[in-house]
Amino acid sequence: MKKRVRMMGVAKPGSILIELLAVMAMMCPAMLVAQDKAPTADGGLKSVYGKRFAIGAAIPGADLKNEEIALLSKHFSTVTPENCMKPEPIHPEEGRYDFTGGDALVKMAQSKGLTVNGHTLVWHYQCPDWFFVDNGKPAGRELVLKRMREHIAAVAGHYSGKVASWDVVNEAIDDGKGYLRNTKWTQCIGDDFIAEAFIAARKADPKADLYYNDYSIEGGGKREKTLRLIRELKQRNVPINGVGIQGHWQVGRVPLKDIEAAIVAFHAEGMKVAITELDIDVVSRSASGANVNAREKGADDPFVDGLTPEMQKKLADDYTRLFELFLKHRDKISRVTFWGLHDGRSWLNSWPRKRTNHALLFDRSLQPKPAAESVLELGRKQ
Ligand code: G3I
Repeated sequence: MKKRVRMMGVAKPGSILIELLAVMAMMCPAMLVAQDKAPTADGGLKSVYGKRFAIGAAIPGADLKNEEIALLSKHFSTVTPENCMKPEPIHPEEGRYDFTGGDALVKMAQSKGLTVNGHTLVWHYQCPDWFFVDNGKPAGRELVLKRMREHIAAVAGHYSGKVASWDVVNEAIDDGKGYLRNTKWTQCIGDDFIAEAFIAARKADPKADLYYNDYSIEGGGKREKTLRLIRELKQRNVPINGVGIQGHWQVGRVPLKDIEAAIVAFHAEGMKVAITELDIDVVSRSASGANVNAREKGADDPFVDGLTPEMQKKLADDYTRLFELFLKHRDKISRVTFWGLHDGRSWLNSWPRKRTNHALLFDRSLQPKPAAESVLELGRKQ
């Protein structure tokens, strides 16, 4: 790709200075500030896509193997803590916080020049019961609201200036016919727990982008219900910057039309759109979405010895079509984060039952799969 460059400083055309600069530039190209550096042939995902949208990965913490750190540094510019900043690990008892995991992850990320996306302040899962109990009885609205606000103030306050965004509320939309998921948050505080959470998050961190994050909101009733939520929050001037479409899809069934409609619709509401937890399951399952509570029986483990070439091709095609779509809407997409660094770290190896999955771009030996090569090639061509 022709390098478009900009001479440092400003000089009149034809002047001695511009001639001198031109000679120096030929002798020392570093003098020039390359505006859109062409992605290098061996550049990773972040070098190939970084000028369009950030490429991220969820990681369990800072204690990664050296080769995993190398993979992370080459391909990703941003990380999401898979678990260590969730309410249960970070606030196990009222008033007792454990920031060790999150702090180590932030420190490692900063040392590698990676940004961090906080995940997640308010969720119905992995949230300790103490939030909702008052002397052995269900706690009332004011007490649970106070606890939620204190939790957000402490956690988002602790990481203020250290995270680029927060998944403030995770998976609050009902999977069925209802509007909001029936959880202890809605039972104790009411539907406005979402607005209150965003208000508290903005108060604790004046700068981070605040996201609503959920699965299956690209289509079906959940997209409409998410749009309703965004509009209600905007109507109340609640600070919300973006929507996270998680992206836990299944091979051969990636709902591209719905995904495109959702990206366009959420963006039209003034939202940044992030793909926050991308993976493509290659082992059949009946559960759609990503309801962590879903469990399935079954013992078939079709790819225990690795993916067949046919399945590698199907996976590569699905990821390539997805990234073609993301590139088409690069003006709307802030980030694409994979839910795991490589196949060996994927949650899909144990949900909704134990399986050998191959849902990401890099295999268990941290090698790029055909899907990775195809996505890289696409980015280099566009
Ligand atoms: O850390 C404890 C450990 O101390 C304990 O010995 C062990 C056995 O009970 O559990 C460990 O916690 C586990 C945690 O992962 C860390 O490994 C939890 O049981 C387990 O439920 C948890 O699973 C995570 C799940 O969210 C629930 O929090 C998955 O790794 C994680 O990939 C998954 O991610 C979610 C997103 O946060 C939200 N969107 C859906 C996505 C997939 O479910």
